[in-house]
Amino acid sequence: MCEKDELIQEAITIRNKAYVPYSTFPVGAALLTNTGKIYTGCNIENAAYPVSCCAERVAIFKAIADGERDFKEMAVVADTKRPVPPCGSCRQVMSEFFDKKLTIHLANLHNTTKSVTMDELLPFSFQPEDLTDR
Ligand code: THU
Repeated sequence: MCEKDELIQEAITIRNKAYVPYSTFPVGAALLTNTGKIYTGCNIENAAYPVSCCAERVAIFKAIADGERDFKEMAVVADTKRPVPPCGSCRQVMSEFFDKKLTIHLANLHNTTKSVTMDELLPFSFQPEDLTDR
């Protein structure tokens, strides 16, 4: 199985663990490191709605908390008509850690996929250097 398909499969599997009593909209994400490890995440909601966390951020935060910094590819899956587009907050978090050329595979449950680079997903993003280059 190619990396893209493996990541999508991992995202589909973790999606079943989503805690989504409010939206009933489960999402799964899988993140591949350059050392070959895969970190998965699902969305985790809360009765105080805004503190919920998306699947993408759960996967990224798990990897970062495990000491990982060097990422290769990501997949995101939801039961949408089109490949699921990540929210703006997740795009900003991705841009903190992902190279501009890193590929993110967006998918649904009907084998429709769209692969985009970080730069395509969030062009002209606010970067750590912007805090110091002034
Ligand atoms: N959600 C994600 O986890 N990732 C996305 O890419 C889109 C939205 C979650 C947030 C919330 O738990 C639910 O989907 C509905 O917005």
